[in-house]
Amino acid sequence: MSTAKKEYKRITVKSLTEMKSRGEKISMLTAYDYTMAKIVDGAGIDVILVGDSASNVMAGHETTLPITLDQMIYHASSVIRAIERALVVVDLPFGSYQSDPKEALRSAIRIMKESGGHAVKLEGGKEVKDSVKRILHAGIPVMGHLGLTPQSIYKFGTYTVRAKEEAEAQKLKEDALMLEKAGCFALVLEKVPATLAREVAESLTIPVIGIGAGGGVDGQVLVTHDMLGMTHEFNPRFLRRYLDMYAEMTNAFKNYAADVKSQDFPNDEEQY
Ligand code: KIV
Repeated sequence: MSTAKKEYKRITVKSLTEMKSRGEKISMLTAYDYTMAKIVDGAGIDVILVGDSASNVMAGHETTLPITLDQMIYHASSVIRAIERALVVVDLPFGSYQSDPKEALRSAIRIMKESGGHAVKLEGGKEVKDSVKRILHAGIPVMGHLGLTPQSIYKFGTYTVRAKEEAEAQKLKEDALMLEKAGCFALVLEKVPATLAREVAESLTIPVIGIGAGGGVDGQVLVTHDMLGMTHEFNPRFLRRYLDMYAEMTNAFKNYAADVKSQDFPNDEEQY
């Protein structure tokens, strides 16, 4: 299989399928605001996820459950204003799609109309099948999310690896196939054994994007603040840190404070 990289001016759901068939891995990162999205997009990341992890990262909540649809729309519209190339996928937050397919469609339409996002993502398998179909029927691309699904954290009880047991692995495989058949354009697999993730990716034609799911899938996603080392208290095995921004930023703030106290800042060139 060729892994030649094709240049895309704009990433669409079709580009992602093409990447999978060419064997080109898909890069995806989160962003919740204009400035970060501009840097992520400018760096050539294929997909920007306006994740409901904004609930943790931006608002300091313990879980993703509290973030609202209005707040997701605010984050997504800030991201959309920044991007020129990436496909922007927006999470449907907890409580905006679980009760019935009509509500799910209403929430997805609000995201598309009010933020300008390009696609939505929602968590779950056969429980959300009707909602997925309804949203797709309105012409809105849907990305699935299986494995560790943080919106169900109180059902699982922990953030440990999912689908290690045969029964759960079997359900995950069935759900993945169902989501592909329903028309999802891609699937996120979070924190599942690498062999299972590879098997799912190989059995589907749609791209499977992993987080803590090993290298056998079609792409990778990380939370940007984690890979930059800004959230230094979060240390899962799957996380590769590309910077130690926590230390860098702390140092910069300390230097600034010291310069202000010592009256080194501002100097003669830094004033009018
Ligand atoms: O909300 C999020 O950031 C996510 C990723 C972890 C996939 O869903």
